[in-house]
Formats: sequence, structure tokens, C-alpha cells
Amino acid sequence: MNEELKRLTSPNGATKYLFFGGKGGVGKTTLATATAVWFADHGYKTTVVSTDPTVSLSAMFGQQIGGITRVPIRHVPNLCGLNINPNDARGVFQQRLNSVIGQMTGAFGGDVISTPCAEEMATFDQFVSFLEEPDGDVIVFDTAPTGKSLRELAMPFDWAGFLQKQIQEGEKLASLMNMDGSSFQELERDKQRYDNALNVLKDRSSTTFALVLLPERLPIEETQSAISGLDRLGIPVQALVVNQCILPEVIEGNRFLAARANLQARYVNEIDTRFAPLVRARLPLLDHDVSDATSLRQVSELLYGE
Ligand SMILES: Nc1ncnc2c1ncn2[C@@H]1O[C@H](COP(=O)(O)OP(=O)(O)O)[C@@H](O)[C@H]1O
Ligand SMILES: [Mg+2]
Repeated sequence: MNEELKRLTSPNGATKYLFFGGKGGVGKTTLATATAVWFADHGYKTTVVSTDPTVSLSAMFGQQIGGITRVPIRHVPNLCGLNINPNDARGVFQQRLNSVIGQMTGAFGGDVISTPCAEEMATFDQFVSFLEEPDGDVIVFDTAPTGKSLRELAMPFDWAGFLQKQIQEGEKLASLMNMDGSSFQELERDKQRYDNALNVLKDRSSTTFALVLLPERLPIEETQSAISGLDRLGIPVQALVVNQCILPEVIEGNRFLAARANLQARYVNEIDTRFAPLVRARLPLLDHDVSDATSLRQVSELLYGE
């Protein structure tokens, strides 16, 4: 059990947003869902949100979880799930942007403005609606792998500048070119929404950004670069969860396991030194996978206690 991780993740009076990032297969879905189950079991109104296009959330709880409305999770009172699928998501923002881009392209012809990745924008738009209307005590995000989630998060920063320019120059241009100026006003409103959402992400008291990693060379380096990337966006990573640690008591003279555990011990040391300012929690490698409410509760107790 990690008292510090529990303190970081617990809501204190306001909605708490928890993010679990990291590369594919390290245990993000496991950590996010186990954390959500723990808070739900302790009486907090909790939602777990996946922005990963895979069906992992539905598979984990053995029920269909879609992207439109929150679905109450069977056998876990206080918990709802939502799976925002970037392939289906249709954000208002995207439509507005398309309308402006359509008009600009019509006016200038061709590739004057490159279209942003509409899928990611739409996902982010839905994601922003969540940050705008806090509903519940804890919202846990099972984010897509690092690179993609970083891009999702970075996008509004790129777009903030773009939008600002569109809004300033666009309105002038719009009247000159006889375009519909109201699209620009709508974009300005959207920009405001995005700025507000990003402020929530940057706020340590309302948001905890945790990265999951394995005690191995490449995950350590990727974690370092994810921390720097998020830091450049003004988003502080506050915790690391080192997953799949081989506990000494399971070795029982097995040389293969002992060698693996030795290797892990070196990397765990390195993690403790390199990432000393962050809260660091460890989750042992279990002898089974984590794929239902029972195994999730086992993980949640290992992490946060009874
Ligand atoms: N500590 C652990 N012990 C045993 N199996 C684990 C552990 N953590 C994760 N797993 C298993 O590893 C696989 C990948 O985990 P998952 O949470 O889906 O990763 P991600 O969401 O980062 O891709 C899953 O099958 C999960 O059950
Ligand atoms: Mg996953």
C-alpha cells in the first residue's frame, strides 16, 4: 500500500481528475480501473474514462461501455464507465473548425490551411466537456499510450495560437471576403473552453498525472521524455507506478526469476534516484492477469490498502 499515492489521488472537497499514462502494455488500464474501483468501493462517485480506441474498458468489466453516455458498472456501485472512441467522436469544435476551414479554403483555394487531425480534436473536445462539467468525486482517465495522449494534450496549445490568429485576422478577413463571421465567435468560445480545461490539467490540487512503467531500460527513458513533454505543456507529473515488480518471496530458488528480479532491482534503484521528487509506488507482478472486478479489487488493495 502506498500512503502517498492515496493522498495524491484522493479528492478533497472538489472533483479530482486522475490520469494514468505510459506506453502500451505497461498497465495503464489496470491501474486506472483498479483506482476507480477503489474509490467507488469507498463511497466516492467515480467515473472511469478511456480515450483508447481499444475495447479494453468493456472487456475489463465484461459489459458494453460506449462513448455517448456513462454506463453504470455492474457489481461496482458508485462506478460508471465511458469509452470515448476517437474514431466515432464528433465534436462540435470539429464542425465549427471545418466550417471555418471550408470557408477559408473556398476563399483562398487549395492547401492554404492544413486540416488538423480531426479525430484527435474531436476526442479532445469530448474530453474537455468532462473537465468543464465536473460530475462526481473522482474521474479517472485511462489514457492512450504516451505519444498520442501527449499530442492530444498538446494540440490546444498549437491551436490556441492558430485560433487567436484566425479570430483576430479572420474576422477582418471574413468581412472583406463576405464570409460568415459567427463561426469565428464560436471558435473564440471554444478556445476559452480549451484554455479553462488546460488550467484544470495544470492544477496540482485538482489533477494528478501519474505515469506507469516497468522497471526496465526503455520504459525509464520513455518516462523521462514523457515527463519533459508534459512539463513543457505546464502539466506536472506527480507520481510513477512501477508495475510488475517481482517480489523476493516468489523467487524460491528459481534462477530465472532471481536474475529477472536482480535486473529489476537495479532499475528500481535508478527510478528512485532519477525520479526522487515524484511519489513512487510499486505494484507486484501477479501470477494471473487483471481482467475482472475480483482481480481489480486485489490490485486496488495492494495500491491503496483495504
Ligand atoms: N501487476 C501485474 N501482474 C500481472 N499482470 C498484470 C499486471 N499489470 C498488468 N497486467 C496485465 O498486463 C496486461 C497489460 O496491462 P494493461 O493494463 O492492459 O496495459 P495498458 O493499458 O498500459 O496497455 C494485461 O493483460 C494485464 O492484466
Ligand atoms: Mg489500456
